[in-house]
Order: sequence, then C-alpha cells, then structure tokens
Amino acid sequence: MRFIPDLLHMQDGTAVTAENWTLRRAELIDVLRREEYGYAPPAPDGVRGEVTAVDRKCACGKGAIEDITLRFDTPKGEYAFPFQYAYPTDGKAHPTFLFINFRKGVYDKYVDVDSLIEQGFAVADVCYKDVSSDDGDLTNGICGMFDRPDDGTGYGKITMWAYAMSRILDYLAQRPQTDMRYIASVGHSRLGKTSLWCAAQDERIGLAVSNDSGCAGAAYERIKRPEGETVKAITKNFPYWFCENYKKYVDRAEDMPFDQHFLLAAIAPRRVAVGSASEDLWADPYGEQLSCVGASAAWHLLGKKGFVGRSEPMTVGEQSMGDISYQLRDGIHYLGRPDWRFYCECFREFIKENP
Ligand code: GCU
Repeated sequence: MRFIPDLLHMQDGTAVTAENWTLRRAELIDVLRREEYGYAPPAPDGVRGEVTAVDRKCACGKGAIEDITLRFDTPKGEYAFPFQYAYPTDGKAHPTFLFINFRKGVYDKYVDVDSLIEQGFAVADVCYKDVSSDDGDLTNGICGMFDRPDDGTGYGKITMWAYAMSRILDYLAQRPQTDMRYIASVGHSRLGKTSLWCAAQDERIGLAVSNDSGCAGAAYERIKRPEGETVKAITKNFPYWFCENYKKYVDRAEDMPFDQHFLLAAIAPRRVAVGSASEDLWADPYGEQLSCVGASAAWHLLGKKGFVGRSEPMTVGEQSMGDISYQLRDGIHYLGRPDWRFYCECFREFIKENP
C-alpha cells in the first residue's frame, strides 16, 4: 500500500492527542486551503434576509416554503443571492438540511421536500449557480466581491460555494424554525465535495453528507480503482473548482501533504455520512469507503467509534452507521430517495446521540 499522510502527527512530528486535536484540525484545514481548495475570505459581520414570497400550500398544508434574498457586505459592496427555506409550520425549531443543488428550488428530482417536511426536517436549498457560475470566470457572483490572491492559494469555486452555505447558516441562526443544534450539510458530486469542505470549516454543521463526491471529495487520491477520476483529470476539466496549487499534484499524488481522509477527519468529532453508488466508478466507491476507514483514527483519538464498517469492499446495498456512516447504494451517479432515506436515518442517529 502507498504511503498515506498521517493524521495523528502534527506537522512538526508531535503526536496528536485528544488535547491538541483542535490544533491538528486547524493544520488539516490549512493544508487543504493552501494546496487544494484555496482560502475563503473572512465572514461578513452579519447577514440580512429578505423574504420575497411564501408558499404555505406544501406538504398537505403542514409546511411553508419561503423565497429569500440573502444580503451581506463585502469589500466591493453589498452582495445578494437567492435561496429557498422550507420548514414544518408547527411553530417548533427543526433539524435542518443545508442543501446545495444543481438547480433552483426545492421541487427537484434530487430532493423530496414534502417527505422531509413530513419527517420533521427543514431544508434550506441554494442553487450553486446563484452563487457563482460553474466555469473559469472567477469574477462573477460572490467570486467577484473580494480580491483573490494570485499566489496559488486563491479560492476556487468549491470554496466559494461552501462560503455561501455558511452565510445561509448565519441567517438560519436568526430563525426560530431552525434548531441550530442539528444542522446537516448535503450535496451531490461536485456539491458533495462542497458539502464536506463547508462542514470541515464550519463547526455549526453537526452532520456532513457527501453523496457520490468522489475525487477531491470523499475518495482517496492515492488508493483508487483504475476507473476512478484523478487529480490529473479533475484539474484538466475543472481547474477553477480549486486553487492553482492543486495542479502541482497532477501525476504526483505521492507528493501531496494530505489525502482526502484529511477532509473527513477535519469534521471530527462531528458526524459524516458518505454515500456511494455501485455503478458510479468515476467517483470510486471503494476509494470513498477506504478514506472513511482512514479518517476514523481522528474519532478514535477522541474516544469515539468513527467508521464501524469493514475495510473489505462493501456489497451493494450494504450500510454502516457510525460517526462516519457509509452506504453503497445500487445504481448510478444520482441523488435519489434511497440516498435521502439513509441520510435522514443518519441525521436521526446524530440527534439521538446529542439530545
Ligand atoms: C464530473 C467530475 C466529478 C464531479 C461530477 C459532478 O464528473 O469529473 O468530479 O463530481 O462531474 O459534479 O457531477
């Protein structure tokens, strides 16, 4: 097996303990910022939400969906983007999914909002293109509102999509319908990478859900099935998702001072749920499972169980529920009902463990 960077030694070689885990976590985040995703700008002092429409006729009248414009100040003036907020209208605070999606709106093939409301969950839903375009233009949307450093560490799109999710959370914290103890970030594929990266940096997120996030998401770079996407492929097709430095590792995975288990471990001791799909070889299901195994050391250090599944490839349909939960769902690259069923289950487990 190839050498995998060690989670449990600080950069200066000191052993990591439960006591200095906070410092180690900061190191993990820093290396991922510098070498992979780029640094985010500082958070604004505050955010303002303007509700522009409310639909009360959803989930048999038991839920509401608001259109909200979120505003905050940046060095280049006020920035605003839209999102939707759906919640049960029973007057209570609810566990909330912070969902970043490919398309606008909670009525979408990748989410069943009525079902989530019926189960007592709220959902904040943002379309990533409302934050910044998915292309090499680093001047539009939120990306244009800051001076981006050109030293190789300037933010890529994933960092800024994640930044927007955190701003939504700033707003949700002001709403009585949100139970801030129970926040789960969710995204599929490139947005699964975004969900993990957001949760790694934002400790208000208690559960990070990664659906088919693959390369630069949950999947190891060093250990990969031949069909799996690599740093070489991803930086050729989508260089703008990352900081410039990431390109240094094309064909040089062995030189990376990190691997993707750092991303998962930066979420410890909070919870992670990783979903893979059996036919999604590009995202490399087994590479995703193995980085869950690798990241588990961080939870063990903190007296938790971490990943409780096997290290041999799981069979299709198998699940394991732990601090890092994992499911290998039958089918293609997709965010569907069996995925959400599993993530809702993971969310309920997290709530049960943290009453
Ligand atoms: C491409 C890309 C993946 C990404 C996926 C998606 O396939 O190579 O890294 O996860 O798009 O976002 O759907």
